Amino acid sequence: MENETIAVLGGTGDLGFGLVLRFALAGRRVIIGSRRHEKALRRAGDANKVLSRYTDNRVSGMVNSEAVGVADISFLTVPYPYHVETVKGLNRNFKDKSILVSTVVPMEKTDQGLKPVIPLEGSAAMEIRRVAPKNVKMASAFHNVGANDIQNLEKKELNCDVIICGEREAKRKVMKLVKLIPGLRPIDGGPLENSVIPEVLTPILVNHVVKLKTGSLGIRITNLNYSADELIKIYMEKGVI
Ligand SMILES: NC(=O)c1ccc[n+]([C@@H]2O[C@H](COP(=O)([O-])OP(=O)(O)OC[C@H]3O[C@@H](n4cnc5c(N)ncnc54)[C@H](OP(=O)(O)O)[C@@H]3O)[C@@H](O)[C@H]2O)c1
Repeated sequence: MENETIAVLGGTGDLGFGLVLRFALAGRRVIIGSRRHEKALRRAGDANKVLSRYTDNRVSGMVNSEAVGVADISFLTVPYPYHVETVKGLNRNFKDKSILVSTVVPMEKTDQGLKPVIPLEGSAAMEIRRVAPKNVKMASAFHNVGANDIQNLEKKELNCDVIICGEREAKRKVMKLVKLIPGLRPIDGGPLENSVIPEVLTPILVNHVVKLKTGSLGIRITNLNYSADELIKIYMEKGVI
């Protein structure tokens, strides 16, 4: 697990950059993916500047197509509705038997704030599943975590449950990555078809952030009195992951 390479596609943006910092801080090998090589390198430089205050660990930058070719796990952090065309464009490049994790939340503006968009396939993750190569396993995660908190390494302990949907093996690996970020707890969300559930929660969080100016918000499953480690152990014992 520790030797796995993580790519964050669109890791130049808000959520992706935060994931890059957190995984690198935890000692994982991380690549910032971008559509443009020079942007990937520039943002890798930005990330390394931040990281240098906390650790000797460093990240690299590549175009998305190169990044998915070497990554064991790729996180897709591009805005809806560019997720499908992005994955289609990378289809021939994914490393065999790698894992693709969607963080994509389909939302649109109304005069009362954001509302969910439910695609025909049921969720952004299922839209991606339709076009992603069959030899790539899929999961979805991080829909309900705020980018500001993830990016802020001064925030030592976050406060959020991360619902992870997808194929068993993919979920197991993603859960172990979620656990690396202090204060995040991985929650089994069932199969990828269930990804609509965490996806539709996000507009409520964002609408509160915007209207109440609260800073990043998250979700917690209450009365589930287990730590991240305990939950992963239980999920493994029960054959969930
Ligand atoms: N922000 C959050 O707090 C948050 C929380 C949970 C989930 N999410 C989800 O995470 C995803 C990323 O959100 P974000 O706020 O980080 O987005 P963002 O900062 O607006 O964009 C992320 C990156 O996507 C790439 N991108 C932009 N337009 C694109 C296009 N037309 N085609 C392909 N790539 C494009 C860009 O990378 P390059 O220009 O380098 O290619 C950009 O840096 C979204 O689907 C969002 O719903 C966000």
